[in-house]
Amino acid sequence: KVVAVIMVGGPTKGTRFRPLSFNTPKPLFPLAGQPMVHHPISACKRIPNLAQIFLIGFYEEREFALYVSSISNELKVPVRYLKEDKPHGSAGGLYYFRDMIMEDCPSHIFLLNCDVCCNFPLPDMLETHRRFGGIGTMLVIKVSAESAHQFGELVADPITKELLHYTEKPETFVSDLINCGVYVFTPGIFTAIEGVSTHMEDRANLHHTSSFEGLQYVTRTLPTGFVRLDQDILSPLAGKKQLYTYETMDFWEQIKTPGMSLKCSGLYLAQFRLTSPHLLASGDGTKSATVIGDVYVHPSAKVHPTAKIGPNVSISANVRVGAGVRLISCIVLDDVEIKENTVIINSIVGWKSSLGKWSRVQADGDYNAKLGITILGEAVTVEDEVVVINSIVLPNKTLNVSVQEEIIL
Ligand code: GDD
Repeated sequence: KVVAVIMVGGPTKGTRFRPLSFNTPKPLFPLAGQPMVHHPISACKRIPNLAQIFLIGFYEEREFALYVSSISNELKVPVRYLKEDKPHGSAGGLYYFRDMIMEDCPSHIFLLNCDVCCNFPLPDMLETHRRFGGIGTMLVIKVSAESAHQFGELVADPITKELLHYTEKPETFVSDLINCGVYVFTPGIFTAIEGVSTHMEDRANLHHTSSFEGLQYVTRTLPTGFVRLDQDILSPLAGKKQLYTYETMDFWEQIKTPGMSLKCSGLYLAQFRLTSPHLLASGDGTKSATVIGDVYVHPSAKVHPTAKIGPNVSISANVRVGAGVRLISCIVLDDVEIKENTVIINSIVGWKSSLGKWSRVQADGDYNAKLGITILGEAVTVEDEVVVINSIVLPNKTLNVSVQEEIIL
């Protein structure tokens, strides 16, 4: 049997995702019309002999309750949310729930970060991992040398694919091969975490002892039970014939900012074209709007037949799109109203917002720049004919004048 664990983190981790994370946990933010965490979960469904999926985080249980029960029914695989009392780090969280994870005596455990976007080649990883025979195999990808420092950089043996060296977000360049945050382990990973955390506690206790000997102001001890998978486990295990790499040639992105969520929404829509074309709007028939490229429209949304939408547009529940509206590269969240002839380009429109007639909400579409996409928080009102360019508008604001390159607090 195999189980999968998805690390969803908690509220303090989501700060770069503001203002979209004020009311919705980042893992539930919709990409291509499905919660972010839904994409790795549905990829897990392709793992042979999958017994259970666990989501581990420190959000309140009630935030995930509804999603977890509906997805369990849909997939016919138990999906459980396990809440940590406090952050234990990515490896600490896994270890904290080891008894539940090992309940079905799985031979393998997948571990996925919830904030990565890729095609999750899990069955292939499992097969390769079995051949390597180590404790773990990690998904890796080549990125540009300039962007590598944002990730765990690593060196792998070109022939055996063994992980030889690992450094988490190094200041000086090590390698353009990086950690994708997707792993498959044998239960031996728990012994490895145990070994490392005992070592860390010993070091912490040493600090305590020295503070009794007059150095009471030097109390910087390591938080007990906080173990990070990357720095604390992967680095020391590298070069010991325990960890191996599986390189993907397909797409991979990390989703830390709203800009990247818009980009990844497009990547997932493009993937639907191959995996679940029924989820994409077709735009055929005389009564529906003109659809260009990959578009998702929730069945409850009402789009006027004279509207033109796409590519990369995702429209959530109960949205109303008026006559003559043009939507390009955007995510429109639940209960938004867009009146006649409004244009939205490279933007995310927050829940319950309302856009007046002939208004424009747009941005350049530089996904990595701070104001590269326009974001309207929850319940923002943009009045008729108002233009909002490259701006972030916090929840509950009303805009009656046009703004450009501004953060409206
Ligand atoms: N449950 C739980 N508890 N989840 C956690 C905790 C914790 O204490 N800390 C982090 N996570 C989750 C995050 O929500 C995220 O999904 C994942 O674990 C990794 O988060 P971080 O530890 O903050 O690392 P990162 O995202 O900056 O970088 C990691 O992922 C990159 C790939 O996206 C590293 O492993 C990098 O090397 C890697 O390139």
